[in-house]
Amino acid sequence: MNKDLIAIAIDGPAGAGKSTVAKEIAKKLNLEYIDTGAMYRAYTLKVLENGLDPKNENEVLRLLDNTEITFLDNHIYLDGVIVDDKIRESIVNQNVSYVSSYPEVRKKMVELQQKMASKNNVIMDGRDIGTVVLPNASHKFYITAKPEERGKRRYKEFVDKGDTEIKLEDIVEEIKKRDEIDSTREESPLRIPDDAIVIDSTNLTVDEVVDLIIELIKGEN
Ligand code: CDP
Repeated sequence: MNKDLIAIAIDGPAGAGKSTVAKEIAKKLNLEYIDTGAMYRAYTLKVLENGLDPKNENEVLRLLDNTEITFLDNHIYLDGVIVDDKIRESIVNQNVSYVSSYPEVRKKMVELQQKMASKNNVIMDGRDIGTVVLPNASHKFYITAKPEERGKRRYKEFVDKGDTEIKLEDIVEEIKKRDEIDSTREESPLRIPDDAIVIDSTNLTVDEVVDLIIELIKGEN
């Protein structure tokens, strides 16, 4: 990591509001926002679209070398095609934690992420940013909230997009399942980095979390 560049790491469980908060901070502090979850989601989409089984490691690895994932102007491209919306669908939510548990998948994504952080001032969110991707990050945060609250937030996102079929209890279950897989996998599990500041956002608004983090970043400088 280039020590003249700023690197802010944000980790935490599903639906804690990391990406909303990170995007806002990126705007305010003029940083590049890198959504690492979107990269695992994009590859999961490719696995599914090709009829491969996300729970079968050998099948999942089959396409890895022939996959290109890039960010440009706040869009994520999978093999040259924008997949911003498709990677947020329920079918991807249900399968991404299997795909992201395989060491070779992680190795490829982590290399890409570290390359991005070596060229720009970044704020990056995910599960292993402070622990594995950017262990020397200038600032590390772990944002969490109660599972029921995280479920409600994710539910609202689906409803706002016009999804009338979705059920709140199914989303809460899916989030809990994903947390369980993400925290217990062998390779780079989700955990609180030793030197991270933990923020429980259960009773905080997005603006409150953003302001708090910016204050902490400025205060630490
Ligand atoms: O937005 P949400 O919190 O639901 O998830 P996300 O950040 O888009 O991440 C989706 C999934 O990708 C997670 O549940 C993890 O399985 C995986 N992931 C990961 O393993 N490592 C990362 N650095 C980011 C995401």
